[in-house]
This record gives sequence, structure tokens and C-alpha cells, in this order.
Amino acid sequence: MAKVIPLLLFFLFFFSLATALSSDGEALLSLLSAASPSAKSSSSVLSSWNPSLQTPCSWHGIECSPQNRVISLSLPNTFLNLSSIPPALSSLSSLQLLNLSSTNISGTIPPPFGQLTNLRLLDLSSNSLSGPIPKELSQLSALQFLCLNFNRLSGQIPPQLANLTSLQVLWLQDNLLNGSIPSQLGSLVSLQQLRVGGNPNLTGEIPSQLGLLTNLTIFGAADTRVSGVIPPTFGNLSNLHTLALYYTEVSGSIPPEIGSCLELRNLYLPMNKLTGSIPPQLGKLQKLTSLLLWGNELSGQIPAELSNCSALVELDLSSNNFTGEIPSEIGYLTSLTIILDLSCNSFTGELPGSFSSLTELQSLDLSHNKLCGRIKVLSSLTSLTTLNISYNNFSGPIPVTPFFVTISTNSYLENPNLCQSIDGFTCSSRATRKKGLKSAALISIILASSVIFVSNIKG
Ligand SMILES: *[C@@H]1O[C@H](CO)[C@@H](O)[C@H](O)[C@H]1NC(C)=O
Ligand SMILES: *[C@@H]1O[C@H](CO)[C@@H](O)[C@H](O)[C@H]1NC(C)=O
Ligand SMILES: *[C@@H]1O[C@H](CO)[C@@H](O)[C@H](O)[C@H]1NC(C)=O
Ligand SMILES: *[C@@H]1O[C@H](CO)[C@@H](O)[C@H](O)[C@H]1NC(C)=O
Ligand SMILES: *[C@@H]1O[C@H](CO)[C@@H](O)[C@H](O)[C@H]1NC(C)=O
Ligand SMILES: *[C@@H]1O[C@H](CO)[C@@H](O)[C@H](O)[C@H]1NC(C)=O
Ligand SMILES: *[C@@H]1O[C@H](CO)[C@@H](O)[C@H](O)[C@H]1NC(C)=O
Ligand SMILES: *[C@@H]1O[C@H](CO)[C@@H](O)[C@H](O)[C@H]1NC(C)=O
Ligand SMILES: *[C@@H]1O[C@H](CO)[C@@H](O)[C@H](O)[C@H]1NC(C)=O
Ligand SMILES: *[C@@H]1O[C@H](CO)[C@@H](O)[C@H](O)[C@H]1NC(C)=O
Ligand SMILES: *[C@@H]1O[C@H](CO)[C@@H](O)[C@H](O)[C@H]1NC(C)=O
Ligand SMILES: *[C@@H]1O[C@H](CO)[C@@H](O)[C@H](O)[C@H]1NC(C)=O
Repeated sequence: MAKVIPLLLFFLFFFSLATALSSDGEALLSLLSAASPSAKSSSSVLSSWNPSLQTPCSWHGIECSPQNRVISLSLPNTFLNLSSIPPALSSLSSLQLLNLSSTNISGTIPPPFGQLTNLRLLDLSSNSLSGPIPKELSQLSALQFLCLNFNRLSGQIPPQLANLTSLQVLWLQDNLLNGSIPSQLGSLVSLQQLRVGGNPNLTGEIPSQLGLLTNLTIFGAADTRVSGVIPPTFGNLSNLHTLALYYTEVSGSIPPEIGSCLELRNLYLPMNKLTGSIPPQLGKLQKLTSLLLWGNELSGQIPAELSNCSALVELDLSSNNFTGEIPSEIGYLTSLTIILDLSCNSFTGELPGSFSSLTELQSLDLSHNKLCGRIKVLSSLTSLTTLNISYNNFSGPIPVTPFFVTISTNSYLENPNLCQSIDGFTCSSRATRKKGLKSAALISIILASSVIFVSNIKG
């Protein structure tokens, strides 16, 4: 027995020399031991993590360099159920890619992650991480993608992130961040996507310095409390595809400079406090597909130039303070397919005849305006599936197209001078007679009362 123990020790020593797991492997095992037992047993992914191998390079979700150093740890959508991220992962000093998106991690982001200086991609999105964004992350000078969206991160956006000069994607949306958007982020010249929306306590003005981010394609700050104006410097964002700034406190007018964002597809500005009129310069936006401005305090007329936005499929100007006639040029927007919503404004006058060209339009809402005249032109809109012209002063017969005969009266409430029709050109005899009788009665009452009135004066 006395002889067996040294022998055993020798074998153990030999065994460990031959198959000792590399230090990268050991660091990864910290992730395995932190994972809840049920996660380990339920995940076929983690069962491939065999600690008796020499390197972790064959484990699921792991990639190594030719030197057998771990360069990628990617287990997105794997149920790990970690109550915290093991700080030991920060010893994976060759790591370039870390994707633990949707892995059910809670706890905080370990500040030692700032030591992973080869990291190009850090995706911890869609977890339950809380606490601050460690300013140490600003040491990750190779970082191109930083995705921390959809967590419960709080505190401010560290201005030091401005050090991440290789950053192309910065997703911080849907957290509990507060403070304001650091103006220093204007130095992230490689940035293509900056999303900070869905942080209800994010306040302050949008830094004008963001106009320096000429490679930016997406800027999102919806569902925040950012205030002040839309910076006119945004006119320099010549690659911008999407400006998503709705449900905020942004005020002032829409800067005419936005008309210089020639790549703009989506201009989403609903539910702000925007005033002034629509700048005619928006007519330069040949690629614009969605212009959503509802729920502001915009006024004035629709600029005819808007009809130059020949790619527009969606135009929603509802619930503003627009006035004047609907410009006939709007009918030239034959690309409009999804919706034209001008409801809840103060538009006056008749529908332009050019509306007959909107043959691809599926939804039209003109309700709650002061529009008048006949609606015959709407019978040309053969793609309509929903229509609302309620609360106006339209008159004449309701067309008898297949669409119009199926819609409910809810589509044209409170237009006292509209009438049912059999041929679509004249009011049907019964309706006319009814109406005629009504008007005749009304006229005689008016006549009678004025006679009384006049005779009273005379008397
Ligand atoms: C996930 O972890 C929490 C504690 O952190 C535990 O209460 C829960 O049961 C775990 N869920 C599963 C499915 O293992
Ligand atoms: C992380 O992985 C998910 C799932 O494959 C993927 O959708 C996501 O784009 C990855 N993150 C980054 C930043 O590439
Ligand atoms: C994480 O897992 C726990 C326990 O299963 C669950 O209650 C919680 O909703 C999950 N969180 C996320 C973000 O999936
Ligand atoms: C930012 O970068 C500068 C120099 O590039 C460096 O001196 C500073 O320490 C960095 N800050 C952080 C927080 O990493
Ligand atoms: C931001 O939130 C943190 C904690 O979540 C709090 O300590 C801090 O006072 C808040 N700052 C502001 C400016 O609201
Ligand atoms: C901006 O994008 C262009 C084209 O993708 C690229 O060539 C250029 O290097 C980028 N600029 C910066 C500062 O990253
Ligand atoms: C936002 O700030 C208010 C006080 O300013 C606080 O009561 C609230 O809890 C904060 N909300 C979040 C989501 O942090
Ligand atoms: C755009 O950038 C140029 C210099 O690069 C500057 O002179 C100009 O004022 C900027 N325009 C706007 C609208 O910010
Ligand atoms: C719109 O197009 C017309 C020609 O169709 C042109 O005269 C006008 O300058 C354009 N307006 C804008 C703002 O681009
Ligand atoms: C809308 O315009 C009317 C009159 O033109 C004005 O009384 C009202 O205050 C305006 N409302 C807003 C929100 O600007
Ligand atoms: C509604 O239109 C009729 C003509 O069809 C006109 O006589 C009447 O004054 C208009 N009413 C309002 C409130 O504008
Ligand atoms: C049209 O708008 C009115 C007023 O907002 C509403 O009562 C009615 O239900 C709407 N009709 C349809 C078909 O949506």
C-alpha cells in the first residue's frame, strides 16, 4: 500500500502533464461551473465541453487560433442561466469574439473585461444584466461591435466609450440608462449604427457632434426623454438610412438640412413636440420610403416638393396642425402603397383629381379635417382595403365600386351631405327622396321661421 501512493502520484503527475487542460480551457470551465445544473443537463452544447481534453478547441461554441488560443466564444441563444458572468473569462487574452446574446445571464458586466484588448465583437444583448456599463470597456481598442441592448443596465453612457475608435455598431437600446448621450461619441468616426432608444430616463439634448459620424446609417433614440432640437448638423450624415426619433421630448422645427441626407429611407419622427412646417428640402430625398410625422404640432401646408419623394410608400402626417388644401402633387406619389394618413388636421378644400393615380394605395385616412366636395375620385383607388373620411364635409353620392359597397358606414361618419347612390353618379331615388323630403321640411321650417322673424321685426 505504501508503494502504491507514490505510484499513483506519479501517474497523476504524468496524466496531468499529458492532458492538462490549457489555461484558456480552465477559464472557460468557470462558465460551465457557473451555469445552473439544469442548464448544463439541458444543453447539448455544454455537454460537449469535455474538461479532460488538452484544449477546449473542439468544444461547441469555441474557436481557436493555430496556437490553440481561444479566439471566439459564441453561445448565443443557449440557456446558461448564469447569475453572473465569471470574471475569469477576462483571462482569455486572445479572445476576439464574445457572443453571449440571449443566454439568460444576470448580474453585472465585469470591469476586468476591459483587459480583453483583442476583442472585436462583444455581444451580451438580450439578457438580464444590471448595473453600469463599465468604463473599462473603453480600453477595448479593437472593438467593432458592442451590443449591450435589451438588458437592465443603468447609470450613464460612459463618455470614455469615445475611445473605441474602431467601433462600427453601438447598441445600447432597451435598458435603464440615464444621463445624456455623451457628445464625445461624435469622435467615433467609424460608427455605422448608434442605437440608444428605449431608455426612458435618457435625457438631455442630442449632441450636434453626432453630425460628424458620416458613416452612420442608423441613429435611434426613440422612447427616451431626449429634448432640444434635431441637430442641423445631421445634414452631414450622408449615409443615414434611418432616423428613429419618436416618443421623445424633441422640439423645434425639422431642420431643412435633413434634406441633404440623400440616403435616407426612414424618417420616423412621430409623437414629439415638433413645430413649424415641413421643409420643402425633404423633396430631395429620392430614396425616402417612410415619412412618419404624426402626433406633433406641425403646421402650414404640405409642400408640393414632397411629391418629389418618388419612393415614398408610407406617408403619415396625422394629428398635427396642418392647414390649406391637399396639394394636387400628392397624387403624383404613385409609390404610396401602405398608407396615406392626413387625419386629424385642418385640411380644407376638395380632394385633388390627381388622387385617381394612387391606384396602389391600400389605406387612406382623411378623417377629422375640413375637406369638402365630391369623393368620386376615390373610386379609382382600386387597391384600398381601409378608408376613413369621417368627420369632414364631403358631399354627393358614395361611389358604388366593389370596395365602397362593402365598407361600413364607420368609414364616412359625420359627412351630412354624402348620400347613398345606385349608379355612383346621382343619389339613389329613395335616398334622394328621403333627403329631399328632409331638406324640403327643413327649408319650409327655415322659411316659416324667417317669415315669423321678418314679420316680428316689421311688427
Ligand atoms: C435559473 O437560475 C435561477 C437562480 O439564479 C433559478 O432560480 C432558476 O430555477 C434557474 N432556472 C432553471 C430553469 O434552471
Ligand atoms: C450574436 O449571435 C446572434 C445569434 O447567432 C446573432 O444574431 C448576432 O448577430 C451575433 N452578434 C453580433 C454582434 O454579430
Ligand atoms: C432567466 O431564467 C429565469 C428562470 O428560468 C426566468 O425566470 C427568467 O425570465 C429568464 N430571464 C431571461 C431574460 O430570459
Ligand atoms: C482613452 O484613450 C486615451 C489615449 O488614447 C488614454 O490615455 C485613456 O486612458 C483612454 N481612456 C480610457 C478610459 O480608456
Ligand atoms: C442615474 O441612475 C443612477 C443609478 O441607476 C443614479 O445613481 C443616478 O443618480 C442617476 N443619474 C441621473 C442623472 O439621473
Ligand atoms: C466609412 O465607410 C467607408 C465605406 O464603407 C469606408 O471605406 C471608410 O473607411 C469608413 N470610414 C471610417 C472612418 O470608418
Ligand atoms: C427614471 O427616473 C425617475 C426619477 O427621475 C425614477 O423615479 C424612475 O424610477 C426612473 N426610471 C427608470 C426606469 O430608471
Ligand atoms: C458639414 O460639415 C462641414 C465640414 O465638414 C461643415 O462646414 C458644415 O457646417 C457641416 N454642415 C452641417 C449642416 O453641419
Ligand atoms: C421637385 O421636382 C421638380 C421637378 O419635378 C423640380 O422643379 C423641383 O426643384 C424639385 N424640388 C425639390 C425640392 O427637389
Ligand atoms: C393649431 O392651430 C390653431 C389655429 O390655427 C391654434 O389655435 C392651436 O393652438 C394650434 N395647436 C397647436 C398644438 O399648435
Ligand atoms: C359643407 O359643405 C356645404 C356644401 O356642400 C356648404 O354649404 C357648407 O357650408 C359646408 N359646411 C361647413 C361647416 O363647412
Ligand atoms: C373613422 O374615424 C372615426 C373617427 O375617428 C371613427 O369613429 C371610425 O370608427 C373610423 N372608421 C373606421 C372604419 O376605422
